[in-house]
Amino acid sequence: MFERSINNEALIKMVILRPMQQEDVEGVMAIETTVTEFPWTASIFSDCIKVGYGCWILDDEGSICGYGLISSSAGEAHILNISIKPERQGQKLGLRMMRHLIKQAKYLKCASVFLEVRVSNKRAIDLYNKLGFVKVGDRKDYYPATEGREDAHVMSLALITQPSA
Ligand SMILES: CC(C)(COP(=O)(O)OP(=O)(O)OC[C@H]1O[C@@H](n2cnc3c(N)ncnc32)[C@H](O)[C@@H]1OP(=O)(O)O)[C@@H](O)C(=O)NCCC(=O)NCCS
Repeated sequence: MFERSINNEALIKMVILRPMQQEDVEGVMAIETTVTEFPWTASIFSDCIKVGYGCWILDDEGSICGYGLISSSAGEAHILNISIKPERQGQKLGLRMMRHLIKQAKYLKCASVFLEVRVSNKRAIDLYNKLGFVKVGDRKDYYPATEGREDAHVMSLALITQPSA
């Protein structure tokens, strides 16, 4: 059968990256509420689209399998959210979305891109390390947690190297 003869890499290539639209928010929320105990609300996604942040969808023939959001100001980009549908995790879609967001930050001539990540989120931290992000600080009690609060690592990737003096 065709589907069996196609390898994983080919299947991933069939997934397209496209801008998020207001009509996508329901599908995005279906993923958001499964990947975290403390999901964003639909109105946060909706507002991010309205204010013109970089809001991107990984679309597999009409089915949303992930999304990523990035903002930029004063020459710095901030990755606000990246999530992949649980059944599609581990297929390099997160890597693909991250590379895309970094490309967007470069296009906007940002000097660096930063993000926050739960200190317990090993999977995401591994991905960010792999892309060259380094930990530049911590934010204490940044996230809600099942018991109390959880700290965030702040991670950063330099995009423009300063000329040496
Ligand atoms: C974190 C997340 C975005 C990664 O996306 P993904 O598509 O699963 O990751 P990829 O397949 O692109 O993997 C890229 C790298 O991430 C790391 N990684 C992926 N799955 C992993 C796992 N199960 N355990 C440890 N590291 C893992 C590895 O370094 C991997 O590289 P490798 O395959 O060469 O080992 C995804 O797991 C997710 O949506 N998680 C829930 C939401 C979330 O935590 N978002 C981040 C908030 S800061």
